[in-house]
Amino acid sequence: MAFTRRTLLSGSAAFAGAVAASPLLAAQAAPALHARPGVPAPADRPFLFAVVSDTHVIDKFYKPGSENGVEDNDSILHANERLLAARDTINTIELADGRKVEHIFIPGDCFHNYPSADYDFYQQNETRIDIFKQLIDGFHSPVHLNWGNHDYDVPRVSREMSHRLFKQKLKSEPYSAVDDRGFRFVHLNNFLGSTWDSTSKDFNKGIGSLGETQLQWAEAQFAARQPTVVFIHYPLWVVQPTEFADFGLHPLLRKYQDSIQIVISGHWHKWLDFARTYGPQHTVMAATRYDAHSWMLWEADPKSGTVRWLDRNRAEWSTHYASPYHATT
Ligand SMILES: [Fe+2]
Repeated sequence: MAFTRRTLLSGSAAFAGAVAASPLLAAQAAPALHARPGVPAPADRPFLFAVVSDTHVIDKFYKPGSENGVEDNDSILHANERLLAARDTINTIELADGRKVEHIFIPGDCFHNYPSADYDFYQQNETRIDIFKQLIDGFHSPVHLNWGNHDYDVPRVSREMSHRLFKQKLKSEPYSAVDDRGFRFVHLNNFLGSTWDSTSKDFNKGIGSLGETQLQWAEAQFAARQPTVVFIHYPLWVVQPTEFADFGLHPLLRKYQDSIQIVISGHWHKWLDFARTYGPQHTVMAATRYDAHSWMLWEADPKSGTVRWLDRNRAEWSTHYASPYHATT
């Protein structure tokens, strides 16, 4: 069926049918993720989540020296070990009251480029996608993925092939949402619109766009007005404000700014605070690729419907870096 803003927002039987028919929407509609076995918590107790971005995992097929500049060429060679170090630290977090991290969110650039444009290559070899999967499987809590520009290779690799590989190996959809204890966590994909369509006159990979279907889906997510955390790889500065007349991500964020707690992006690999430039709080986070300390620990409070960045003081703003995590919260 064709989705329109009205059918997606109406809560109609047509929408219910669409949810049942669409794996993507069904994933969103699936039961909320549970806390780890053995760690029951009251439904209104604040829970912890971590955000780890731009992990850029590589493999033996990666050719050193193919990045721009010394810093990029050096950091990429440490990407895997830094994700591992971040993961091991996050796994050890336990607050004085016994709470541990219950979700990990990764806003894109999970792995770094494609060693081959041949789908079969990824079936016949252990690649960076498999290594990334092994690394994230070591987290002690569910990991939710988003897409970065390095997770695609348009036009050398079609978006469809990337989606197929992600689905097969990482069990992840192009965009998705999960609910937990009244909160909604939305992963938007800024590579599905016309700016990432090599046949479009708008083709410009420096700019993100979502496409009409995803924008409609996003509005349906926001319209529930649950306290919401949004992840999108490109900072909003480089996401097309509107895509179809006045319909686009920027006005949507403004419209629902009262329930959207924060929009978190990666891509620039540095800590940058856009405050409420786009309506809700917008923060660009640094990358574990450059610094194993560069990740975030958050608390979501179901009673107040708000989130709090617990280790904000670690961020060294406008740099790649953060100070080490110490259990002081
Ligand atoms: Fe990146």
